Amino acid sequence: MREGALIVVEGIDGAGKTLNARWIVRYLRRRGREVIYTKEPTDGAIGRLLRDWTPRRVADPRVDALLFSADRLHHLRRVIEPEIAKGKVIVSDRYMYSTIAYQGAMLKDRGWVEELNRFARIPDLSIYLDVDPELGLRRKMGVRRYSEEDVEILRRVRKVYLELVNEEELESIDANRDLDQVREDISKLIDRLIS
Ligand code: TMP
Repeated sequence: MREGALIVVEGIDGAGKTLNARWIVRYLRRRGREVIYTKEPTDGAIGRLLRDWTPRRVADPRVDALLFSADRLHHLRRVIEPEIAKGKVIVSDRYMYSTIAYQGAMLKDRGWVEELNRFARIPDLSIYLDVDPELGLRRKMGVRRYSEEDVEILRRVRKVYLELVNEEELESIDANRDLDQVREDISKLIDRLIS
């Protein structure tokens, strides 16, 4: 593979997406590829609006679904597609599967969220880091406390991610294990893509 590509890293909060997405960037650079790390929500106008969208609890998941999907289409036009056209590999920390899993779970309507993302490019590799919701929250929050409601929400989100794994949209990796073991599995997927 010498042409550009899109690799996305997905998972619930505390799965280790950012840490591993950045590691994938270094892994590919060591193999001589030109790589760009990017993330969603983005730092563009719509992404900034999403990040400032507080308090999260009163946000309407339908509005969230529309904004996250709009941010993504803007991200594709502004960064992902032009850079892939130049032969670069894009590693995106979250992508459309986040909206399908998070807002799809909140709305109990995956179909509508998928329809909103109909024009989003299908990635060349979609990695899903699977972690137990309680372990994810412990990793993310450290000593701070989290509620049973937070765990329940992430259980519902994880359920949609697992449906996507079953449908072979995502490649699942057990991220409850040590980082070294997780990375060994990630490197196999990357090697298969670039060989
Ligand atoms: P982050 O922790 O990866 O920066 O993501 C910020 C939060 O945004 C995280 O709780 C997941 C959420 N999110 C959605 O609910 N839908 C989406 O489409 C995206 C990209 C993120």
